[in-house]
Amino acid sequence: LRLSGPGSRGHARLRRSGAAAQPAAEEPGEDAEVSTRKKTFAEVQAERLDQAERTVLIKCPSRLNEKKLLQYLSSHGNVKSHFFFENRGISALIEFSEKSSIASLQDAVGIPSASEHHVVPFKSRLFTFTLKNPVSQHLEETPLHLSPQSHIPVKNLIEKLCLADSISSQMYILLDEYQLTEENIRLRFLACSLVRDFARAYFPDSTVKPFGSSVNTFGKLGSDVDMFLDFRDTGKHATKMKKGPFEMEYQMKRLPSERLATQRILSVIGDCLDNFGPGCANVQKILNARCPLVKFSHQPTGFQCDLSVSNSIAIRSSELLYIYGCLDSRVRALVFSIRCWARVHGLTNSAPGTWITNFSLTMMVMFFLQRRSPPIIPTLDQLKELAGEKDKHIIGGYDCSFVSDLRKIKPTKNTETLDVLLSEFFEYFGNFDFRKNSINLRKGKEVNKPESSPLYIWNPFEQDLNISKNVNQPQLEKFIAMARESAWILQKEDKTQQMINKEPWGLAALLIPFGKNNSSKMKNRMKGIGSETIRSLLDSLKLNNASSQQKAVGK
Ligand code: GTP
Ligand code: MG
Repeated sequence: LRLSGPGSRGHARLRRSGAAAQPAAEEPGEDAEVSTRKKTFAEVQAERLDQAERTVLIKCPSRLNEKKLLQYLSSHGNVKSHFFFENRGISALIEFSEKSSIASLQDAVGIPSASEHHVVPFKSRLFTFTLKNPVSQHLEETPLHLSPQSHIPVKNLIEKLCLADSISSQMYILLDEYQLTEENIRLRFLACSLVRDFARAYFPDSTVKPFGSSVNTFGKLGSDVDMFLDFRDTGKHATKMKKGPFEMEYQMKRLPSERLATQRILSVIGDCLDNFGPGCANVQKILNARCPLVKFSHQPTGFQCDLSVSNSIAIRSSELLYIYGCLDSRVRALVFSIRCWARVHGLTNSAPGTWITNFSLTMMVMFFLQRRSPPIIPTLDQLKELAGEKDKHIIGGYDCSFVSDLRKIKPTKNTETLDVLLSEFFEYFGNFDFRKNSINLRKGKEVNKPESSPLYIWNPFEQDLNISKNVNQPQLEKFIAMARESAWILQKEDKTQQMINKEPWGLAALLIPFGKNNSSKMKNRMKGIGSETIRSLLDSLKLNNASSQQKAVGK
């Protein structure tokens, strides 16, 4: 089983969720060239945003005749695809072939009567479908297929992992269970598109795009939707008007700083969402943060959302990770396993704090993959060398250029299994000289730390910043201890015996909290032992267990 990038993610997902978003009509030939290769980040974004604009969300009664709903909708245009999901009742995501169908639908639907609550007359793309005579329609119901929007609990995951035949397979199972599904991605883009409808009331040229893990191929079901408001068209206008003998420009409000403008815009959009947005709840404006944002929960889609204003560097980071995630199927499998491992052991946390963030952790995995021999992914400098004219991006004086066409990147010759990579990851970081060295993805090299932060990961684009500046010494030490313990567990384990005893083995054993007894044992084991000693201890275990390890690793 080899999965890679969103281009081929369908295989695994369709196996799991059965009928996925169902296309109503096949379109032979369309996108044929693009679908056979891995799309560029920009292509995926454009396609998804366009799709979201042709999409509506309909709250449905729990007992529903699917055919009737589709029949009703088809009077407004061709329904290209649809799926149902559960979120405070049943909802249907409907993608029309044409945007005009939405206007037609909007014209035809009614406004709720103002008997109990007064309604704010903002017409969105969120509707409620009810049956006028539910009793007589019961007989015609067909069971609805509901597409899952959350992953299984870790406990159930562990049970599944125990049935696998190798650590590699365990890692692909985890990936398959946790990664975003086609349907979940559509919902994420729809949430952005619905926020865009508000933004366009003020700024007709604006768009709202997702970034972060919703688009970088490392998103997990249940993770937040990071979205930003983009006014890029404003830039286009400026260059157009400079041509010719005249100059004409808009009169615009001027403010002393970009930050202030960002804060004002977000404040107003935040108020709009709060006051007029159907299902927008718990709107929090966090305008004094380093990166001002509005947090809210979007109940119709079920997402926690973070809205900020265009941050070009964060988008470049999303694209860079997208490229790495698409290059080799092992990349995403390893990242998902490490992220899950880190969460189970309390190394990461959804609240901000002194712990390692998922973003930093992902960068650490990328760095580790650059350090393999031969490397599994290229360094950022190598990706920059492959950049074409169109890939040039200078942002705030930083050169953020790198290749966007995945075909230009040579596949790796490295054939290490994920079994090997997982245990080597723990060994590598369990023995990394964090006191002296920093992690530099641009060079793909350990370099001397420029300052004394416990963990130093160079921001790949703003090269004088450390993306893990928030991490304190105790958190780093906890990470190192957990990595060493995990390397130890993987090295010493006897898979066959554990399977006979029905004990969790491999990745499953690493996803069980190491426990109080265990952790004090672990501390004793680590106390005062230099990394060299640990390495030789692990090496000797490797030799002793060579034959049983071979069985466990060789798949
Ligand atoms: P999850 O939400 O945990 O699944 O991962 P995420 O990658 O989406 O992380 P998060 O929501 O915390 O942040 C969204 C995006 O903001 C990231 O993907 C990065 O592009 C950017 N980002 C987050 N934290 C940092 C940071 O410390 N430094 C920099 N430069 N960018 C960051
Ligand atoms: Mg996120």
